[in-house]
Amino acid sequence: MSEREDKSKQSMASAATGQDRKKFEMSDAKEYSCVKVEIDDEGIAWVSFNRPEKRNAMSPALHYEMEEVLPELETDPDVKVMVLTGEGVSWSAGMDLKEYFRETDNNPAARFKSYWSHRHWAQYLMLSSKPTIAMVNGFCFGGAFTPLAACDIAITAEEATYGLSEINWGILPGGNVSKVFSDLVSHRDAMFYAMTGRTFDGTKAVEMGIANLAVPGDKLRDETIALARELMEKSPAVLAFTKQAIKAVQGMDMNLAYEYLQAKQGALRNADKEGTRQKGMSEFLDNKSYRPGLGAVKRD
Ligand code: COA
Repeated sequence: MSEREDKSKQSMASAATGQDRKKFEMSDAKEYSCVKVEIDDEGIAWVSFNRPEKRNAMSPALHYEMEEVLPELETDPDVKVMVLTGEGVSWSAGMDLKEYFRETDNNPAARFKSYWSHRHWAQYLMLSSKPTIAMVNGFCFGGAFTPLAACDIAITAEEATYGLSEINWGILPGGNVSKVFSDLVSHRDAMFYAMTGRTFDGTKAVEMGIANLAVPGDKLRDETIALARELMEKSPAVLAFTKQAIKAVQGMDMNLAYEYLQAKQGALRNADKEGTRQKGMSEFLDNKSYRPGLGAVKRD
């Protein structure tokens, strides 16, 4: 039985027993072979790179599937938080050296299509209005840094292995890896790791600013769920605007940022149908029932 048939059979089996309802609905519409999507009852969408036998290297097929999956999740009202992770021992071993690079060397149309597909889904991820968490469970090499950096928050297994290995393949950290990596880390670290290709672990990734939290691998999923729950306590509208604001001001000078934030603040008051501002201030100023340092405003 082929790998694809095997995965399809597993998906059908779980649907037949009534489990993973959402998973079946998505795979019913389109059968994914390189990406696994599960939406749990709390609203966490678990998106897994699903080529464990290839350490989740990103093939053209994986890019096309991610390009389809992410808009589905973005517009699904049941999805509150997205977690991007990898099946097996790897988060992602980067671009597939065989299927993405070597096999398309003499096929410009195929290279163009998969290159743009990758760019599209990386942008979808980066510009998502929903909170996105990279849960780095293992290897994270080369091209994998682009989706990693596109996620809002990264939580990593301490034991995960990171590296910019492109120097060993005679290629540049392309697909915007050079850009996103040097935006995250210091100039010294960017030069050092890009030029040597040396690897580092999850603890070091936090020290360098690549990830927010490093936890032992056996606690990774629980800690990610705790983080997702914390985010789900916030107003989705305020979260979405906050994400957009933090990202947008990065390219602005002081005056432009002032103007942008002023306008964005006004727009948020219209967009926040839950009235979080009024509620939070009233709880603090009038009812004295809430102080920001002591937890989230209680949402209805
Ligand atoms: N592209 C294509 N195939 C890859 C791959 C990649 N980036 N990374 C791993 N694979 C494949 C291997 O070729 C192997 O395939 P095979 O079973 O058909 O021989 C399979 O995945 C398992 O890899 P293997 O090296 O045996 O696993 P490992 O657990 O011992 O090591 C890594 C894992 C990630 C350390 C190692 O595979 C590696 O160094 N990969 C390259 C990572 C890289 O340089 N990525 C940047 C690309 S720009």
